[in-house]
Amino acid sequence: MYTIAHRGASGYAPENTFAAFDLAAELKSDMIELDVQLTKDRHIVVIHDDRVDRTTNGTGYVKDYTLKELQTLDAGSWFGPAFQGEKIPTLEAVLKRYHQKVGLLIELKGPPSQVGLEKEVGKLLSTFSFSIYNIVQSFNIRSIQTFRDLYPSIPTAVIARPSFGRLTRNQLNVYQSCADYANIKYTRLNRLLISSVHKRGLKVFAWTIRDQKTADKLQSMAVDGIVTDYPDFTLKDDKHETI
Ligand code: G3P
Ligand code: CA
Repeated sequence: MYTIAHRGASGYAPENTFAAFDLAAELKSDMIELDVQLTKDRHIVVIHDDRVDRTTNGTGYVKDYTLKELQTLDAGSWFGPAFQGEKIPTLEAVLKRYHQKVGLLIELKGPPSQVGLEKEVGKLLSTFSFSIYNIVQSFNIRSIQTFRDLYPSIPTAVIARPSFGRLTRNQLNVYQSCADYANIKYTRLNRLLISSVHKRGLKVFAWTIRDQKTADKLQSMAVDGIVTDYPDFTLKDDKHETI
């Protein structure tokens, strides 16, 4: 089972920064989950919200900043004084630092304001084709369909919150047509749902786990990965099956 550090080890360090990513790697996470958007000058940056207000000392929308302007912001102090001066990373810088050490689970954020994000992300990932592992995911099925059409060899995941803990046949058909993974909100997961996704040949990840008891419970179910703010909560296997 894979341990996936949600926005890095974001329970211990400011989300989507190198502080959180470095810690995730130190804690032996198999993958780092992160969120990407385009700047005004079309650089791919790593930040969750469409506004900078919650996680930096700036205000306004990411899409209205150039990369140079964004990188003047402090993305660490909101979490604690020890993290003052952390910057919003670019996806390229993250890939350069980790692509041969840790897998990346890259979430496309912000459509429809982020026209062309799929193409830009795929283009960049293609230049790191010798990376350990990358998966591109989104809540937006159309975005994943677009990505799959453009870059069929890059693995993809659909993020889902299935109503009543089940996926319809039609939903499973759509997922199967464009994705390799279903990344499902853990509160909606049950063994039957996991089995129905597995039967379609897709792997199952569970998000977002923030307590030890839930991590233990999910680890005992047949999920293929846990997305967690606390990557030290999971027992790490020495070896994994190839995903
Ligand atoms: O990996 C799933 C998870 O990241 C989705 O939620 O809001 O943290 O991006 P969010
Ligand atoms: Ca995310």
